[in-house]
Amino acid sequence: MLKPSARSDVEPFLAMDVMTAAAELEAAGKRIIHMEVGQPGAPAPAPVLAAAAEALRGRLGYTEALGIRTLRERIARHYAEAYGVAVPPSRVMVTTGSSGGFNLTFLGAFDAGARIAMASPAYPAYRNVMKALGLLPVEIGVGPETRWALTAEHVEAAHREASLAGVLVASPANPTGTMTSPEELRRLVALSDDLGIRFISDEIYHGLVYAGRAETALRHGDRAVVINSFSKYYCMTGWRVGWLVLPDELVRPFERLSQSLYISVPELSQRAAVAAFDSGAELEAVKAGYARNRAALLERLPGLGFDEILPVDGAFYVYASVARFTNDALDFASRMLREAGVAATPGPDFDHARGHRYMRFSFAGTEGDIGEGIDRLAHWLR
Ligand SMILES: Cc1ncc(COP(=O)(O)O)c(C=O)c1O
Repeated sequence: MLKPSARSDVEPFLAMDVMTAAAELEAAGKRIIHMEVGQPGAPAPAPVLAAAAEALRGRLGYTEALGIRTLRERIARHYAEAYGVAVPPSRVMVTTGSSGGFNLTFLGAFDAGARIAMASPAYPAYRNVMKALGLLPVEIGVGPETRWALTAEHVEAAHREASLAGVLVASPANPTGTMTSPEELRRLVALSDDLGIRFISDEIYHGLVYAGRAETALRHGDRAVVINSFSKYYCMTGWRVGWLVLPDELVRPFERLSQSLYISVPELSQRAAVAAFDSGAELEAVKAGYARNRAALLERLPGLGFDEILPVDGAFYVYASVARFTNDALDFASRMLREAGVAATPGPDFDHARGHRYMRFSFAGTEGDIGEGIDRLAHWLR
């Protein structure tokens, strides 16, 4: 038998597997509350839908591989407006979600065998994609002593052990919701520059901050790769559109890669995304709903037996210990789905070492759904 490649042998992305299992139950007529994937319950904002409707009236074609100019310019302006940081449109590249952005980054900024530091727990696709591309994820276990965030000391120690080529930080982070303080971000970027390590900043949860302030790595120089997306704050997961801000020397190599890998991001999504930045009030109302969901979970989960709830400074996840119920989060998630009709993601997706006693609950759904999810859990755990 002809076999698949060895590099395709990455672990499954469990959140997506849970979503598939939930879809099977739904196809059989069961109602499932979705708290497994980080997917806004709200549709894309009205100006985005209007721009898409307008775009549908004309021809949709390939675009420049770096993205349409109007969108690159609008993204550049966003950095001036939101952070007071000047970014030329020439350094902005539109990607198929941030997923497309970090695939390109791992491929275009590193050679096979490069060691990239990242926190554990972390978003699982980072390590899966790195492995498929022959990079070596260096997972650094973080915990309450640093509010579950990577620090410059962590990176320095890992680099001393064996040279790092890159470091990847997400703030707010998934699954922990924790933020890297502006001062720690400055230290991490400065250290990376000193050591000649490429700093990658996943800023996909910017805009979704409940405590503290999200700072862009671009404030501290122009060597970092910044990854962002319209998926989360802008409620556009299904449109598959995101962006990178690149150091000058990476723009042309990334352009060449994307020309041959996928030609361009769908024009419909790009034209619609231009309007996302003009949707402030609508998006802030959605965020206020997340804040209420967050408050409801933080209030009720401890009483149901979930412990050690992490900070939830930002994003839309609660990562909580289920050690009181089980030592096998995979089994717990599967029973919760079948018996309570609540889909959530087991911790091993994010952390091999400790994840077996954690679950992640996404509260990006509507208030009605999240409230019902909590009620179902209360009933199930009684
Ligand atoms: C930290 C983080 N980065 C990147 C992504 C990928 O998102 P997208 O490709 O939709 O932009 C996610 C999705 O959940 C995420 O949590």
